[in-house]
Amino acid sequence: MNKLLRSSSLLLRTRFQTRHHSSDGRTVTLIPGDGIGPEISSAVQQIFSAANVPITWDVVDVTPVKYPDGKFGIPPKAIESVMKNKIGLKGPLATPIGKGHRSLNLEIRKVFSLYANVRPCRSIEGYKTLYDGVDVVTIRENTEGEYSGIEHEIVPGVVQSIKLITEPASRRVAEYAFDYAKSNGRKTITAVHKANIMRLSDGLFLQCCREVAEKHPEIKYKEMYLDTVCLNMVQDPSRFDVLVMPNLYGDILSDLCAGLVGGLGLTPSGNVGKDGAVFESVHGTAPDIAGQDKANPTALLLSAVMMLKYMELDSYADKIENACLEVIKEGAHLTADLGGTAKCSEFTNEICSKL
Ligand code: NAI
Repeated sequence: MNKLLRSSSLLLRTRFQTRHHSSDGRTVTLIPGDGIGPEISSAVQQIFSAANVPITWDVVDVTPVKYPDGKFGIPPKAIESVMKNKIGLKGPLATPIGKGHRSLNLEIRKVFSLYANVRPCRSIEGYKTLYDGVDVVTIRENTEGEYSGIEHEIVPGVVQSIKLITEPASRRVAEYAFDYAKSNGRKTITAVHKANIMRLSDGLFLQCCREVAEKHPEIKYKEMYLDTVCLNMVQDPSRFDVLVMPNLYGDILSDLCAGLVGGLGLTPSGNVGKDGAVFESVHGTAPDIAGQDKANPTALLLSAVMMLKYMELDSYADKIENACLEVIKEGAHLTADLGGTAKCSEFTNEICSKL
């Protein structure tokens, strides 16, 4: 195996512990999303088809529908599809600004109890950034913390937002992080916190991490303040391995880590829950380039590769991942965000030609 293939096949060597499949084991709900979503989704479908991946897509529309409470939310048909298939691939969704709209991204996480967000950030050969050799995985608690959505106005000019931390949610994300580290050959987990300031909430999160760490002595466990992690991460990312943290810290730190390896257009992610998983690109709908065949489908494709590993279709995952990374390494067919002039369709065809 040449060096490229060896290193690239390691890129997303992501093992998941709790695997769930639809009854036929092979149907995946596809939510193409808005803006560039349909273009990058069809690129993924084209590549999967060229690689003869044995799955069937159940394509659903998540254009919001009005519920009896007057608010807009995911259509029941889309919910039923993910519930049935237990695996989804999702493009970006536009969150309309204004009253009466729930964030669909948030709703999908809540409805399907997707409690852990996993983002592997690894340097991509051929796409030079300020940092080389980055190999960090962020695992973010996805359901509560600062994003519990409990906010109110006490008196005009004074508002309160509740950061909710519970023992069950903290424990399950800690358990997930340790299981992930073990099954992916990782050595160290760092719990990221501000328990010096938020003694009770971050204190409880840390306590749960410590208790879970005691059951996994083979994994080195560390605790670090969020601000110190940010400082050290931009100085030398190679000192980090797997990071686990509450919701808001994870939101920020996972984007920071994505920036180290080339930005959101290249970063895959998975949202794992007790009943299934939804994999998604983390960038937005890119309205400025939507419909122009300019989008880079890499983030969604690598998310789909994570999904194939979750489904234990590793040989297909490796084949697609290697082809994609090889095209990026060669540098002749890059999309504009990577400094090239290729269209989304040209980049996609080039990947297909290597399968
Ligand atoms: P954005 O990520 O859509 O765009 C930021 C910049 O990155 C733009 O210049 C865009 O052209 C570029 N870009 C993003 N993805 C790209 C790709 N795959 N290939 C090439 N270029 C790419 O962020 P923005 O503009 O803040 O948000 C636009 C919409 O997306 C909003 O409605 C927002 O709510 C939604 N959004 C949805 C997310 C999701 O569904 N997970 C995440 C972030 C934003």
